[in-house]
Amino acid sequence: MNKPAHPLMLELQEGFAGVRKDLSQARHLPGIVYTSDEIAALEKDRIFMKSWLCVGRVEELANPGDYMALRIVNEPIVVARDDDGKIVAYMNMCLHRGVEVAFGQGNARSFRCPYHAWNFDVGGNLIAAPWMKESGHDMSGSQLPRLKSAEWRGWIFVNFDADPEPFESYIAAYDKELWYYRTGDCKLAHKLVIDVNCNWKFITENLLDWYHASTVHAGTFGRYYKLGRDKLPAKLLPRGGSSIEFDAKSRSNDPNLPFPKLPWLADHDVFSAKGAIFPNINFWSGSDSLRMWHLWPTATDKTRAVCYILLPETSFATPDFDAKMKQYTSYVEAVATEDRAALESLQRGVSSPRYQPGVMSQLEVMVHHLMNHYVDALQT
Ligand code: FES
Ligand SMILES: [Fe+2]
Repeated sequence: MNKPAHPLMLELQEGFAGVRKDLSQARHLPGIVYTSDEIAALEKDRIFMKSWLCVGRVEELANPGDYMALRIVNEPIVVARDDDGKIVAYMNMCLHRGVEVAFGQGNARSFRCPYHAWNFDVGGNLIAAPWMKESGHDMSGSQLPRLKSAEWRGWIFVNFDADPEPFESYIAAYDKELWYYRTGDCKLAHKLVIDVNCNWKFITENLLDWYHASTVHAGTFGRYYKLGRDKLPAKLLPRGGSSIEFDAKSRSNDPNLPFPKLPWLADHDVFSAKGAIFPNINFWSGSDSLRMWHLWPTATDKTRAVCYILLPETSFATPDFDAKMKQYTSYVEAVATEDRAALESLQRGVSSPRYQPGVMSQLEVMVHHLMNHYVDALQT
């Protein structure tokens, strides 16, 4: 028997029907999906707790004992390289009363719960529980609850679902299309963290929105983009994903490009590409570097955007590397600052009871595709 639809979903049907129309007739998502705490809870349950989520790079956990304590959609987790050199993920939630046992990032032999001092190894196995022998519990073999994890092109993914779709079948379509996104041949050069006062979906959409580039980004890369074309050569991938390769001639010739050309783009004079993997990943390849954005909701109207900047090993030997990376990150920050004003204004707009979703441009084809999958995912 089908489970009964959530009452909010029934209320939203008209708005969702607008999103589902052909792009030429479609409207944007109803405002409530960006403002409602109830929708945010449904998203957590139906999207984030079921999806493969990218939580970091393998080189962030280079040695046994390396770990990162993260809060993913407010769920405390640890990702670590255990004593056998394997990457593992588990809930950061003491087996006694649920207190977090690991903090920050670093290298450790074990974690000691700060509440009653139960001890866990970096693989998440209980190794000691003071004064518990006397109470007669057999705790041998106890482990912090494990999460499924997988690696792809140097990225670490986790899944909160106990029985998720196998990672290999989930990633297959992306793996084939993203030939240029060779992050397995790169290393993390820098990580930027930016907090924005808007719902996480606004940023996932904005990063695929070609329509705004020449206005919002007139001060940075927008001047390189000509908006004469009315159709984007985008490839629409399964589950709301997308990919687009385009001409970025002016930017490739920009003397400000700090790093050498990516070796696998030797035959490409003017290459740039960008795309998305649902729910919260946006990636980009330029001529000299790769970037991946992760968008994490921290509240219904707040998002933490994490930008991983990657370079091939050879580029780390670029003269004046630190100064060039500083110049590079200031550029990324300048672009993000241009977006911030629009994103925070969008949030104020949808918060008004007078807000009505508008129609879409052909330049919003990737946004439309993403929204359609979102509507599906929210209702399953
Ligand atoms: S909550 Fe961790 S030892 Fe009690
Ligand atoms: Fe932008």
